[in-house]
Amino acid sequence: MTLPDHVPVAALGEYPTPLQELKRLSSRLGGARLWVKRDDLTGLAFGGSKTRSLGTLFGRALADGADTVITCGPTTSNHVRLTAAAASRLGLNVVLVLRRPSGAPVPLQGNMLLNHVLGARLVYADVDSLAELEPAMERVARELKDQGAKPFIIPGGGYSPVGALGYVGLVQELVQQSEDAGIGIDAMVFASGSGCIQSGLLLGGMVSGARLPVIGLTINRSVAELRPRILHDVEAAARLIGLDATLAEEEVRVLDDYIGAGYAIPSDAGMAAIDLLARTEGLLLDPCYTGKSMAGAMDLAVRHFKPGQNIVFIHTGGTPGVFSYAEQLAGARADDA
Ligand SMILES: Cc1ncc(COP(=O)(O)O)c(C=O)c1O
Repeated sequence: MTLPDHVPVAALGEYPTPLQELKRLSSRLGGARLWVKRDDLTGLAFGGSKTRSLGTLFGRALADGADTVITCGPTTSNHVRLTAAAASRLGLNVVLVLRRPSGAPVPLQGNMLLNHVLGARLVYADVDSLAELEPAMERVARELKDQGAKPFIIPGGGYSPVGALGYVGLVQELVQQSEDAGIGIDAMVFASGSGCIQSGLLLGGMVSGARLPVIGLTINRSVAELRPRILHDVEAAARLIGLDATLAEEEVRVLDDYIGAGYAIPSDAGMAAIDLLARTEGLLLDPCYTGKSMAGAMDLAVRHFKPGQNIVFIHTGGTPGVFSYAEQLAGARADDA
């Protein structure tokens, strides 16, 4: 089953993204075989999984007749950068509401540099939590409506039932690719933040009839906070496509063991994973999302899974983040020399 015709999807990415075996890494680590699903290669503005949720969200925005999209996030957000790129691709205006703690300078690097290059209108909000950005987006939407525009709000991270629908295709690609490779998938492992990707992967498992184990490694929220969000979103997304979904709580597998000191703060294990993957596989990861989650995937492969089993690490993107951590990454290399 694919998404029903009444779900509009904007064409933003190049699919399927490749599935590659990490042979040199696996033989070095032992444990389960590791594979990588290259969603960093979705094709839009440095890529990333968020291209998929933006496909269904922009599909909805265009169907609603919107001429402007508004979204929000931290200045490190890949979802925000890809929203700006998608708006350019589809000829819509875009406003990005970004959290900037009072007066803090915003270095022009990584995703923030790209937000400027992509020509987005930037609105900074001096708030403590990301949740407080939602009212700021509502304010921008009211102003735009008063000026005669037709704004469409995309929640932070794309977290919404419509956004989750975008990941059904990823699971369908993986089912086909694992058949082609002649392997069974014992787990999909990836960085989980707002819960949008994880909700979509769980939904994709239901839609494709292959309930593959989905293990989200959080990069900011605790298990207690993230799990109910995902349960809620999967069920709401399923209703949108007429699927009667009931998900047992234990199917929402979330681990918060790999966050380190906090969101966007590099961890030792994450930095070591970045170096290891770069040097054994030529694969680039970032300190905020994929470095930490790859550290978790490797740990699970060795300690919780057995040789002969297959773990697919979903490279959710975030490549521009590499350039925001130049000092720490160069330092790690110097230590190794
Ligand atoms: C590279 C990357 N990986 C993973 C995530 C987490 O995705 P989600 O917010 O859908 O849980 C994000 C979120 O922005 C991301 O940018």
